Amino acid sequence: MSLPKAELHLHIEGTLEPELAFELAARNGVALPYADTDALREAYRFEDLQSFLNLYYELMAVLRTEQDFADLADAYLARAAAQGVRHVEMFFDPQAHLARGVGMGTVVDGLWRALEKSEERHGVSTQLIMCFLRDESAESAMETLEAAGPYLDRIVGIGLDSAEVGHPPVKFREVYEAAAALGLRRVAHAGEEGPPAYITEALDVLGVERIDHGLRCMEDEELVARLVRDRVPLTLCPLSNVRLRTVDTLAEHPLPAMLDAGLLCTVNSDDPAYFGGYAGDNFDAVRATLGLSEDRLRELARNSFVASFLEHDEERRTR
Ligand code: HPA
Ligand code: ZN
Repeated sequence: MSLPKAELHLHIEGTLEPELAFELAARNGVALPYADTDALREAYRFEDLQSFLNLYYELMAVLRTEQDFADLADAYLARAAAQGVRHVEMFFDPQAHLARGVGMGTVVDGLWRALEKSEERHGVSTQLIMCFLRDESAESAMETLEAAGPYLDRIVGIGLDSAEVGHPPVKFREVYEAAAALGLRRVAHAGEEGPPAYITEALDVLGVERIDHGLRCMEDEELVARLVRDRVPLTLCPLSNVRLRTVDTLAEHPLPAMLDAGLLCTVNSDDPAYFGGYAGDNFDAVRATLGLSEDRLRELARNSFVASFLEHDEERRTR
């Protein structure tokens, strides 16, 4: 039986399964450079984050209309619900669409078609987090925040994703300040491939409330102590870490050590169509391979609600 859980690290564009990619390609007259779904799946062998991102951005070419985004989100919500997800805080990457001539309204209105029916259809509550691509300029991020102005009532917060190394959080200081002034919640990917110092910077300079991934905090004892003391949630994605070779094997994943250290860890799927599993699959994998006790698994599920942006009374310090 799958535990009820919240998913806090999920890129909606990373839920594009090969079958839906081909269906949307046919619907929109987009040619994909793969013969069929098997050939496409063959391309899912990644060396690192960048090799994944190349395919992730390439396949987005099939997403053109509001209905495409609605179909993508609805397919994800159905799968997530079947694996015990009750709440999702969904990332989307508007710059990747704006660059292809697909407008902010198409993306947000399209996603919204699925999200507004999600509780009724799937029993899953939803929030949207708009991410900036950190390998694009700070000016582009600011323009994206401005373009999102008319849609801010549907967007709970902002995040930072894409190629990490060489793009430190400080690059986005101004746009995070502007987002905070608009009342948006703030998260950022940090310490996936980048150094622990990026985690510290995301907290100190961007004022983030959660760290996405944060795996490499384990290289810095003082940082771990701070994350524990301040109850800063980390949205870990174990199957993603294996596929992107952030860890060599799942058996070597530091999740058990992180829980033992007292870190507020959550387990999420990141880009489930590409990394071999949805939220429940990630839970099953860590249960089977890391030998986590039932208590630990319940702690992870509970943490996912504690760390969420749902209204709740609990002991997490508000920063
Ligand atoms: N890391 C950084 N950027 C991303 C990811 C990820 O795992 N998935 C989609 N964009
Ligand atoms: Zn991610």
